Amino acid sequence: MGVVPLKEIVDRAQRDRYGVAAINIVNDLTLESVLAAAVERRSPIIVQTSVKTVKSIGSDVLMAMWRAMTAGIEVPVCLHLDHCPERAVITECLDKGWNSVLFDASTMPVEENLRQTIEVVAEARAHGAHVEGEIEAIKGVEDDVGSDEESRRQSLEVSVHFVETSGVDVFAPSIGNAHGVYSAEPHLDGQRVTDIVAATGVPIALHGGTGMTDEQFTDLIARGCAKVNVSTALKVTYMQSNLAFLRETEERGKWDPPSLFRHVSADVTAMAAGYVDRFGSAGRAW
Ligand code: 13P
Repeated sequence: MGVVPLKEIVDRAQRDRYGVAAINIVNDLTLESVLAAAVERRSPIIVQTSVKTVKSIGSDVLMAMWRAMTAGIEVPVCLHLDHCPERAVITECLDKGWNSVLFDASTMPVEENLRQTIEVVAEARAHGAHVEGEIEAIKGVEDDVGSDEESRRQSLEVSVHFVETSGVDVFAPSIGNAHGVYSAEPHLDGQRVTDIVAATGVPIALHGGTGMTDEQFTDLIARGCAKVNVSTALKVTYMQSNLAFLRETEERGKWDPPSLFRHVSADVTAMAAGYVDRFGSAGRAW
């Protein structure tokens, strides 16, 4: 199938009530490993980059990696810019060919957020790209974006008005979820997802996937969460896998970088495949 628009992936997922993993990659190895999981499981997948990753690697290099690694790929994939408060970075990524962006204006008053999101949607449409919107910050700082304070949830009326007026393709409400590692099992407001989906039909992005239970995933996906974001789990898997292999390498005294890459890549692929299985998207490639 190859690279497809975000909307194609999330609309099908929401219609058939499965979730598609949206995994933040941090470099070439993690990109390759996440794509390998999608191919192995015959699943659609959404690859995400944070603004920090875009700035550290550069949009040209990231896009060249993406194009090279997805050429001829047989499962539906798309490239998404995660939480981006900076309009210039949104424009840069859309110009370079990202399939979708999350314009994160959640620190702005809702009216100003709405005004700017309408502009971002128009800009994305000119590129055939899609937009995720949010009006409340998801708790937790991730790659330098966000806050540890939980923001006030807006009413259903305000949320529905934002979705309908802005024209966003995916909406990310705050439901008690958070980025990073949960210190205790989160209490998630599934009813809010049900209410927003019933009123708007828009697919929901579930943020803060790392640390949620299988029951929570199953329940929220059934309510209409079609895009399930995972970032911290990849970072932890990537670094712990490197650490374990390097400790062993030090003991054995045999320093062979390609063996390290193979080891870490296998662990990252297994982690991503695990989420694909848990979200019910294995075998859903078209
Ligand atoms: P985690 O880091 O908790 O997995 O959350 C990822 C996320 O929501 C990215 O936007």
